[in-house]
Amino acid sequence: MQKNKAAVKPIGGYLELELPKGNEYYPDLVHLNTGRNALEYILLQKKYHKIYIPYFTCDVILEPIVKLDIQYQFYHVDKQLDPIIDFEIESDASFLYTNYFGIKLEKIVELSHKIKNLIVDNSQAFFSEPLPGVDTFYSCRKFFGVPDGAYLSIKRKLAKKFPVDNSTHRFSHLIKSIDSGIESGYSDYVNNNKDLENNEIRSMSLLTRKMLSSINYNECVFVRQRNFNFLHKHLAEYNLLKFDATDEHTVPMVYPFLTNDKHLKVHLIQKRIYVATYWPNVFKWTKKNTTENFLAQCLVPLPIDQRYDLQDMFNMLNILRLFL
Ligand SMILES: Cc1ncc(COP(=O)(O)O)c(C=O)c1O
Repeated sequence: MQKNKAAVKPIGGYLELELPKGNEYYPDLVHLNTGRNALEYILLQKKYHKIYIPYFTCDVILEPIVKLDIQYQFYHVDKQLDPIIDFEIESDASFLYTNYFGIKLEKIVELSHKIKNLIVDNSQAFFSEPLPGVDTFYSCRKFFGVPDGAYLSIKRKLAKKFPVDNSTHRFSHLIKSIDSGIESGYSDYVNNNKDLENNEIRSMSLLTRKMLSSINYNECVFVRQRNFNFLHKHLAEYNLLKFDATDEHTVPMVYPFLTNDKHLKVHLIQKRIYVATYWPNVFKWTKKNTTENFLAQCLVPLPIDQRYDLQDMFNMLNILRLFL
């Protein structure tokens, strides 16, 4: 009998990090290391010669496009984050649209009927299920405390087997924040983000996969929707971005609050409400008078995630009200 050494599981030794054993949310999708590499996977598989991308997105999505030397053309979005398609889309080119903050499902369904080679970037919409036949990718770290990881929905897989990633060295911010607070882990977070740049396509690390199998997804959905709807009830009248309260199909990443006050983000950060800028590269890509420049400056993404209860939302709202 042939013995397969690799299959023999070691027994004993020290105990490892204990995580609840559960299931991933997308066990059947392709498991990859990053969202940008999921886009690379699509571009390799589909062999597109050109892609349309929004000015309003993260510059890391250019990594695979530049690497594969694919033509790209920017397009604009309007103040409601809908694409402005006032040009002819070349029939064999692809069109990338982002499910902004997780609230653009309706627009995506509409686009999927009109655009042949639509690619959906669901990095900000983890819980938005892929539409049949529409290439869709997810970046896990925008929704959960994981160092990396991406899922991809694509009909035909590449034949190539990719090496498995290792995430141990990108883990520090996730544990430092528990011991010493979110502020003290911030520089590690920045460095660990840097480490995700220009990597080869790899399969999702076992560590990330294990963490993603330990999450109570029902609870995350419930908390995000509850927090989002609470803020919306109190802020809708001031919000320049118009949308409905969430229904069961929409699980937002943040509450996007659009205001004319370009200093609001700074005021909140000074009060230790850490709101991100989506996305700093937009200031380089666009002129001052463009919608995207305004969005990058004035769109305040308020945290609503599973860490927070309604008391936290109430406290944040009270601070925000000081500046309205
Ligand atoms: C809209 C959007 N798409 C894609 C990505 C890329 O995801 P990843 O960092 O997993 O490559 C990001 C951020 O990094 C993003 O903000």
